[in-house]
Amino acid sequence: PLVSMNEFLPAAKEKKFAVGQFNMNNLEFSQAIVQAAMEENSPFIFGVSEGALKYMGIEFTVAMAEAAAKQSGLPIALHLDHGSSFEVAMKCIRAGFSSVMFDGSHHSYEENVRLTKEVVKTAHAMGVSVEGELGTIGGVEDDISVDESDANLAKPEEAIRFYEETGVDCLAIAVGTAHGMYSGEPDIKFDIIEEVTKNIPVPVVLHGGSGVPDEMIRKSIEAGVGKINVNTENQVALTNAIRNVLNSNDSVYDPRKYLGPGKEAMVEVVKSKIKLFGSSNQA
Ligand code: G3H
Ligand code: ZN
Repeated sequence: PLVSMNEFLPAAKEKKFAVGQFNMNNLEFSQAIVQAAMEENSPFIFGVSEGALKYMGIEFTVAMAEAAAKQSGLPIALHLDHGSSFEVAMKCIRAGFSSVMFDGSHHSYEENVRLTKEVVKTAHAMGVSVEGELGTIGGVEDDISVDESDANLAKPEEAIRFYEETGVDCLAIAVGTAHGMYSGEPDIKFDIIEEVTKNIPVPVVLHGGSGVPDEMIRKSIEAGVGKINVNTENQVALTNAIRNVLNSNDSVYDPRKYLGPGKEAMVEVVKSKIKLFGSSNQA
């Protein structure tokens, strides 16, 4: 069965590794991600954005995640990514999600606390874990677009207070990463991660994991990141592989002939992230 993130996040915090959230966008993603995790014997999180949920449909989403859990026997959380309302979080929980993110970062601090608390109260009563967000993360994901200049870093004292007031199971804070690929290198504020981590009992979440240099990922985990989200790198790997097949062969029409290589490319991405995050053999 699908599990809450509390099945593995405490160990991640204690042993200093990070669990990957790999976003699921269709069947090929779900299969590639679980295959990579099985090869690495690693726990992981299927992240599903509201846009991806609309695309796949909630029944298919839950069914694919459950099939992955059944096939692998691994601890897998099915997690709503950047949930925008109490209603969508409840809809997901009712449908079988084992974890939800409530992203109230565009609200005022007080409103974010109030809304997040409501989600936590109900979700926890049902054994479902909750991720909160403080500070805004730049870049584009689905229909959510945040201009870099509007992206603002989380303040450590505020993040600590946010944890105390809401009781979330992990906390995403804006520390300089962005959704999508980077034109240069991100400027990650490791001191913010460290300051928050040592003052709360749950791990910090790093969004925008795609395109972050390996060394910065290692430093973030060392500083206290216990969950890292990756989406764009898988999208790029899938699309490049498909493009290669189609560009080099005009007569291909069987989708399996290009989706297969696309899937293999994603398996490689996910395996390398799992190794980098240190979650191999932590299942
Ligand atoms: O919530 C999802 C992640 O933050 C994905 O970010 O597409 O830059 O890997 P990414
Ligand atoms: Zn994100």
